[in-house]
Amino acid sequence: MFWIYLILINIVAFIVYGIDKFKAQKGSWRVPERFLIGLAVFGGSLGAGISMLVFRHKIRKRKFYITVPVLILLQAALCAWGYYQNNHLTVSYYELDIGLGHEMTIVQVSDLHAKAFGKDPGNLLDEIMEIKPDIIVVTGDAVDGQYPSFDKAESFFEGAVKIAPVYYISGNHEEMLSESSRDEYYEKIEKMGVILADDQVFNVDGLIIAGIGDLTLTRLGTPERFKIFDAFSADDAVLLLAHEPDHTDLYTRLGADLVLAGHVHGGQVIIPGVGGLLSPDVEFFPDYYEGLYEAGGEADTRMIVSRGIGNSVLPLRINNYPELVVVTVK
Ligand SMILES: [Fe+2]
Repeated sequence: MFWIYLILINIVAFIVYGIDKFKAQKGSWRVPERFLIGLAVFGGSLGAGISMLVFRHKIRKRKFYITVPVLILLQAALCAWGYYQNNHLTVSYYELDIGLGHEMTIVQVSDLHAKAFGKDPGNLLDEIMEIKPDIIVVTGDAVDGQYPSFDKAESFFEGAVKIAPVYYISGNHEEMLSESSRDEYYEKIEKMGVILADDQVFNVDGLIIAGIGDLTLTRLGTPERFKIFDAFSADDAVLLLAHEPDHTDLYTRLGADLVLAGHVHGGQVIIPGVGGLLSPDVEFFPDYYEGLYEAGGEADTRMIVSRGIGNSVLPLRINNYPELVVVTVK
C-alpha cells in the first residue's frame, strides 16, 4: 500500500509540475507554489525533481532548486531506513527449564503474513537451517487474509518441512479465509508434511505439544468456554502453541509450562522504556508485545511472545525488527 502511494504521488507530482510549466508558457492560471512544494513534501519529491529537469521548470527558483533535492535525499534515506527496519531479520534465543529431562530446540515462526525475505523465503529458511532445530512451530498468520495469495506461505512450508517437523496453528488471518480456500491451502501443505496442530495434542520425545488456533477459539466462543483439552498433569512438560497472547487465564488453567504466541507484531513501534505502541486489535500499549512473560498459575506458566516476521494492515516497524524465536527447553 505504501509503495503504491509513493508511486502515485510521484506520478502526480511529475504531471502537475509539467502542467504548471505549460500554463506558465501560456501565461494563464498557475498552480500555487505552495501546492507544488506540498506535493514534494508529501512524498512526491522525486517526481517533482524529474519534472523540473525534463520541463526545465523552476530550476532557477531558489525555493525549488534547494528544497526539492533536499527532500529527495531525505525521502530516499527514510525509505531505506524503513526498508531496513521491516526486513532486518533478527534471532532471539531463550533457554528454559520446563522439566523435560533432556534438551530440545524449537524454532518459532510467527506472523509470516505472506512475507518473503529476498526473492523467496530462502534467507529465512537458511537462517532456520543453521539453527538445526528439533521442531519448527508456526504460531498463526502464515498467510494474510487481505492478500490471500498462498505462494509465499506454501514455499516457506515446502522448505521448512525439509529441515524439521513443522507444527502449525491458525491465527486470525487463517480464520479470515473462506472455508473452501482454507481447506484447499491446508490440504496442500498437509501433503507437504506440515502438521496442523489446531485442537491437537502430540507427544514428541516426552514434550507435550498442544495447539490452540484462533479457529478453535472462534468455534468454541470465548476462551472461558474452551473445552478441547483437559488441564495437563503437573508432571508433563507442556508446550502450548497459541496465536494470541491475551488469553493467559486459559493457558495457565491448562497447566502449560511454556506458551509460544505472536499476533501483536511487537506493537509496530517499540518505544524504549515504554513498550509496543499498537496491537493489530487497535489497542495502544498492549500488555504483551515481545519477549518472555511470567504468566503465573500452578504450573508457573511462562509465555514468549514473538514480534513476528511480517506485517499486515500497517507496513511499519520501528525499533521492532522481524524476529525468529529459538527456544531450547530442557
Ligand atoms: Fe499477525
